[in-house]
Amino acid sequence: MVSKNYLEDEFRTSTLFTDESVFESEYMPNGIKHRDNELIFLSRLFLPLLTQPFSLSKKILITGNVGIGKTITLHLFGKMIKESARKRNLNIKFIQINCRHKKTSASILKTILNELIGGVPSRGLSSRDFMEILVDYLRDYKCYLILVLDELGFLMKKDSDLIYTLTRINEVNFSHQFYLSFIGIVKDILSLKNLDDATISSLQNEVIRFKKYSESQMLDILKERVEIGLKPGVIDESVLKLISSLTSVSGDMRKSLKSLKDAVRYAEHHQMEKITLKVVQEVNSRSFSLSNNELHNLKRAELLLYATICNLLNNSQSEVTMNELKEEYIAVCGYYNEKPRSDTQLWEYIQTLKQYDLITTTMKNKNQRGRQSCFSIPNYSISTIKKEIEKILNSGNLHEI
Ligand SMILES: Nc1ncnc2c1ncn2[C@@H]1O[C@H](COP(=O)(O)OP(=O)(O)OP(=O)(O)O)[C@@H](O)[C@H]1O
Ligand SMILES: [Mg+2]
Repeated sequence: MVSKNYLEDEFRTSTLFTDESVFESEYMPNGIKHRDNELIFLSRLFLPLLTQPFSLSKKILITGNVGIGKTITLHLFGKMIKESARKRNLNIKFIQINCRHKKTSASILKTILNELIGGVPSRGLSSRDFMEILVDYLRDYKCYLILVLDELGFLMKKDSDLIYTLTRINEVNFSHQFYLSFIGIVKDILSLKNLDDATISSLQNEVIRFKKYSESQMLDILKERVEIGLKPGVIDESVLKLISSLTSVSGDMRKSLKSLKDAVRYAEHHQMEKITLKVVQEVNSRSFSLSNNELHNLKRAELLLYATICNLLNNSQSEVTMNELKEEYIAVCGYYNEKPRSDTQLWEYIQTLKQYDLITTTMKNKNQRGRQSCFSIPNYSISTIKKEIEKILNSGNLHEI
């Protein structure tokens, strides 16, 4: 018997998307809404570079919650700078690197050189060698580099002097001329714990804090994507409003776009021609799938702390204070036969969990004695996480510390 060609069936199934790629997280829109103030601010800061090239060096830190457009705003700003530089025949390069993917000085410097020169040898050269090649290149080609290090908190502790060394090349190597500006992007200053104190304090001189989007701004952004990514009439404004209101607490646009895409997929799967309020509610009530990779990246001690937070939140609490956490943590360690770690270590584990977006923290006025940190878990179904943690803890397949 000849098997039916299921691929042909799939081709025939009508899709509600006109371009599904516009809902992918890597998608870079040509223009963005509601970040004009930030773009104007950045433009004013960097204008002197175009009017008096090599006259200044900037060190800027951009902060703000998850999914609020920090990366795409800087990407767009890069395009603007490159275009204005080209018009004026200025040799200005804008390079944006994500430290989640390039965590060491050597890999960052190699990426910069590959973009500038191309074909840098991958073996046998140290960070210092890469730095020398970079300095020579900038001087010989009279090239100004604006370097953006995104998700800077992921830079390895041992390489924390990279920014210091990079910005020092202005002072040490090029008398009276500047060849490099630096922009770092982080969720908050605390994520910079890996960097040395001098770098952290110098980065705090010029901080641009991105505010989260309001519900109506999120709606606007969703509408724009719908226009370019979905067939006309597939979703009404009232349904988009529901999506933006469900995700407006965090202001996380990535979450909002994912909810929309999930709703479209759900509707397609059920052969529906329109996305209804019910579809959005249904999709939203399903547990958000947790990227297991993040959990598998954690060390045993970090995982135990995460299990503690889940335990407390499971009992119908939406957030946990540090004191509650410490008390329950000792019990969890007892259960797993582990020695409880010091407060300093716990604080470091909390920063790691934040880094991976596994928890969110807020400061609350809990009593007259002052404010304290509260922790909660974004998006995920806590019972799913608990099951997953147990599986990992029992498998023994863990990074030990
Ligand atoms: N103003 C906007 N207009 C259009 N799309 C936006 C806008 N802001 C955010 N987005 C979209 O939302 C998603 C998240 O944006 P982005 O990656 O820039 O956030 P982020 O602040 O860098 O987040 P993270 O802290 O997790 O790195 C992306 O898919 C982006 O295209
Ligand atoms: Mg980002």
